[in-house]
Amino acid sequence: MCLTIPAQIVSVDGNTATISKNGDYNKIDTTLIQDPKPGDWILYISDFAINKISEEDAKEIIDLLQDYGNINTETLSGKFLEVIKSSQTSLLAKEDIIYLLNTEGVEKEALLAEGNIIRKTFLKDFYCIHGIIEFSNYCTNDCLYCGLRKENKNLQRYRMSPDEIVNIAVNAVQEKGYKLLVLQSGEDFYYSDETLVNIIKQIKQRCRVFIFISIGERGHNTYKKLKEAGASGVLFRFETANPVLFKKLHPNGKNFEDRFNHLNIFKELGYFIATGSLIGLPDQTLEDIANDILVTKKYANMVSTGPFIPSTDTPLADYKPPSVDLVLKVIAITRLVMRNARIPVTTALETLDPVNGRMLGLKCGANSLMFNLTPPHYRQLYKLYDNKFYQDESTWEKYGLFKLDSSYKMLEEKMLNVLEDKEYEE
Ligand code: 5AD
Repeated sequence: MCLTIPAQIVSVDGNTATISKNGDYNKIDTTLIQDPKPGDWILYISDFAINKISEEDAKEIIDLLQDYGNINTETLSGKFLEVIKSSQTSLLAKEDIIYLLNTEGVEKEALLAEGNIIRKTFLKDFYCIHGIIEFSNYCTNDCLYCGLRKENKNLQRYRMSPDEIVNIAVNAVQEKGYKLLVLQSGEDFYYSDETLVNIIKQIKQRCRVFIFISIGERGHNTYKKLKEAGASGVLFRFETANPVLFKKLHPNGKNFEDRFNHLNIFKELGYFIATGSLIGLPDQTLEDIANDILVTKKYANMVSTGPFIPSTDTPLADYKPPSVDLVLKVIAITRLVMRNARIPVTTALETLDPVNGRMLGLKCGANSLMFNLTPPHYRQLYKLYDNKFYQDESTWEKYGLFKLDSSYKMLEEKMLNVLEDKEYEE
């Protein structure tokens, strides 16, 4: 579940080792690993060494999770420093967020570095890895930006059977150690409430895992049943908090109020809510984006905000995606206003910059990753947008997923903390 920055053992005394990490020294318990020696690289959580790791792999993780160096504050304007300072004691105002979205050069770098510092201060070096299973690409909607829209007749459609979904999920938990899985599909009513309930129940019976559902608008009744069946969370973006823009992007059917009604339903039912918006939609202003950040804060226990990426066979195919910089600024600002939240590097950011996207996102405030567990023959058909990023994650799975009960308990504790966190109440 969690990836941490590796540390090197300095000395060993019985079952205790002293480790050095970024110049700090800590003592940890080594009973779970074999033959710890000074010089060994290890991963650890909660004062327990979990895994030995080769120096080469350790350096790769350290590189990925690198910091910004020190920023020379003398080069920053008084206004910038004032805004950053105020973010440390109170919620940023919309105007301040717009100001930060406009930063460039050294101030943009300082903003991203601040996102990283806040992440480090509040969440330490724990990065969470979750999995997503995309079980159907059928959709009743016609969102202008989305490759799965019903009007897209060029897309070959698929549906996984309930058994297939359950088996992929159980395998991901038992063989790979995933502790949180998102089950996602287009809005596909082929799967009845009963079918969805059974899928969730079967997974929960066979393994210990948090299930998040991402199936669109199905109303209070369905979500109540799914919660009772064992679903813990929902992944459900409001897409944009601007009603006029929302209407333009969803000319047929989808309704702005329904979207937010659903978020309220999730809250009422006690779901862990992952929500957010699209960045860089056609006609979207920086003010819209600033609003979206504040609306995300209002509803989200976990953030799900990512760039719009044009998709062929949609009406928005010829529009441009936003710059990577804008996406990173949104991550950093979201971190400034939501210090404890899980903020993932989205697949869409990795699609915008397949080489550095992950590292850049983690370096400016994000603290989690979502790996794709959809089998290859379906994966390429789940085409929300063009060239959707995918890579084999076996290295990350090897070091980031601990099949320990303590790791599940830690996640449970963290999720409860977030749900109870005053910061997220209205
Ligand atoms: N670019 C980026 N994200 C997209 N989604 C749909 N189409 C696109 C696109 N072109 C996102 C939506 C939806 C999620 C499942 O996929 O935000 O909520």
